[in-house]
Amino acid sequence: AQGDLKRPETLKFKAVAHSTAETMTVADGYKAEIILPLGTPLMPGIEDWKDNREQSAESFEWRMGDNHDGMWFFGKKGNAYDAKAAESGLLVMNHEYVNSEELSPFGYYVTQDKDAAPLFQSRRLASDIRREVNCHGVAVVEMIRRADGKGYEMVPTSKYNRRITSSTTSQLAGPVAGSDLVKTKFDPTGYQTRGINNNCGAGLSPWGTYLTTEENFLGVFARGQDASQLSAGHNYGRERYGASENSPGSRYLWHTPDAKDAIIPDEFSRWDMTAVGTNATEDHRNGFNTFGYITEIDPFDPKSMPQKRTAMGRFAHENCAYAPVEQGKPVVFYMGDDARGEYIYKFVSKAVWSNNDIGGGLKAGDKYLNDGTLYVAIFNEDGSGEWKALIHGQNGLDTSNSELPFSGQDEVLIFARAAADVVGATKMDRPEWVSVSPMTGEVYVTLTNNTNRGVKDDQPLSASNPRSYNVDGKLRGNENGHIIRWAEAGGDHTAMSFEWDIYLFATPYDLAAENLSQLNDSNDLSSPDGLYFDPRGVLWIQTDDGAYTDTTSCMLLAALPGKVSDGTAITTSAGQQTRVGMPASNDNIKRFFVGPEGCEVTGITMTPDFKTLFINIQHPGNSWGAITGGTIPRSATVMITRDDGDVILAESFDTA
Ligand code: FEO
Ligand code: CA
Ligand code: CA
Ligand code: CA
Repeated sequence: AQGDLKRPETLKFKAVAHSTAETMTVADGYKAEIILPLGTPLMPGIEDWKDNREQSAESFEWRMGDNHDGMWFFGKKGNAYDAKAAESGLLVMNHEYVNSEELSPFGYYVTQDKDAAPLFQSRRLASDIRREVNCHGVAVVEMIRRADGKGYEMVPTSKYNRRITSSTTSQLAGPVAGSDLVKTKFDPTGYQTRGINNNCGAGLSPWGTYLTTEENFLGVFARGQDASQLSAGHNYGRERYGASENSPGSRYLWHTPDAKDAIIPDEFSRWDMTAVGTNATEDHRNGFNTFGYITEIDPFDPKSMPQKRTAMGRFAHENCAYAPVEQGKPVVFYMGDDARGEYIYKFVSKAVWSNNDIGGGLKAGDKYLNDGTLYVAIFNEDGSGEWKALIHGQNGLDTSNSELPFSGQDEVLIFARAAADVVGATKMDRPEWVSVSPMTGEVYVTLTNNTNRGVKDDQPLSASNPRSYNVDGKLRGNENGHIIRWAEAGGDHTAMSFEWDIYLFATPYDLAAENLSQLNDSNDLSSPDGLYFDPRGVLWIQTDDGAYTDTTSCMLLAALPGKVSDGTAITTSAGQQTRVGMPASNDNIKRFFVGPEGCEVTGITMTPDFKTLFINIQHPGNSWGAITGGTIPRSATVMITRDDGDVILAESFDTA
């Protein structure tokens, strides 16, 4: 029953029930195994993980990091990328953030026992911070098919095994490189920065490199009360990214260890963006501007430097997904900015696609990603939509803009959110993952939830964000989220207009007033987040939820969506008219997996033979992922195979 790239008509596996168990559940006939948990050594000579929170900070430059997130399996033949090769491959994945309490004794006090250890709330230990910095970033792990032919194991001596961390020198590439706004004490010329951060969703490039994303980078920076060294416009821009004078906080206090304990210059002070000098290269005010980019990594070149692709804009990047490439046409990527009321973007390359660039590594990245146009989406009330270009000098993006006078394209890109405000983009319910259907070419984006919808004046109900729950006469926002999709005009991904509808409203099935997609207990969900069309056209949906977790932990569902033109008009409980896709049924959407209690299910990739599915479990509860006899829960990858060794969802594909 080898998948023949013809999508099945129905889903035939037995749906997995709601679960709040400490263990994970996968559909009957499948096996789910934990691999590569936090701390796994990626090199011989690095000791195995111990449950004592005391392993050296430096050793995490050679271990799996924390909170596994987006990932991609790169088929490998010889020493090169081969999209069809399944015997071995490089599994490349993000480590989004850290749970301090799992990593260091003092981290435990900071997060769990705030009254007992006030010292650690104001100043933390250098080694603990170094460990946390090293637990962020990306891991590259060579995998080889196991001897029994089912699933994969790590190659511990692989020359490709590598960690990129929040301390790895990275290149600023594209229009922002060299801008005054990214000149720092680290690189006064503004071409390099130190580290990649808060890597969330992931993407593949059409030429076979890994595109990681920087999402909640705001949280690792401290900012002082005095912004008087910044211009009013730049201060406004900084605030637009959440860094205001009135919220000086930093999630991990990375800036607080004693300077004398630093082993590289400004190791800790660089995380404080307070302006203290008279120009930007004397302090770290601009460090903040060097994060928030799609970052390209070539896993097949272990010595290569990560490239921050600034032409694709700076915001809380979730993932990015490319549209099918066509010889001689621009390459198009879609992206979401995951924050309440933020936007959906697309990037259209200036260079046109050539199949000769497959395997071209970062050189191909330079060609397609350093020059192009960033657009932001407007979703009109009538089901139409349009793209607005974020180009300096157009659409009001010039020095006449009062809040942030844009003096060049560098400012437009660094403050993309402020630029998108100017052109009237539509504020969405937290755009998370994007995926493009190989069946229809339509683009899907999860809008995970938004407590501000219909609550804050700047985020009123709209046709594209039409729900706000009315609880006892008070609006509470869109608690469970939805998935929006659109078809570009004429099927051309460079088009400037599109038609959209809402594919699915996520809702607990018994919440009748909001269950607009007619979900039942086999397929109901809340807070869709991870999203992935496999090459056969099956849509996989993952959840990151807090609203429904009393009933069921986070999950993975499989779905067979229709298309935008199937949509029918409805009115939501808040009185907003919109259009929704075909009703859900057990034939077209079904729960495939439920994670352990307390976790988020995120990151997804499938091997080229469709026989192994990898997903990630972040921040599990209890002691899921712990070593035998241990108590510290660990984020990990879950490897899913069929008991009979056939392709994933073989029962649905098998029409013989
Ligand atoms: Fe890292 Fe928006 O999820
Ligand atoms: Ca997410
Ligand atoms: Ca999320
Ligand atoms: Ca997460």
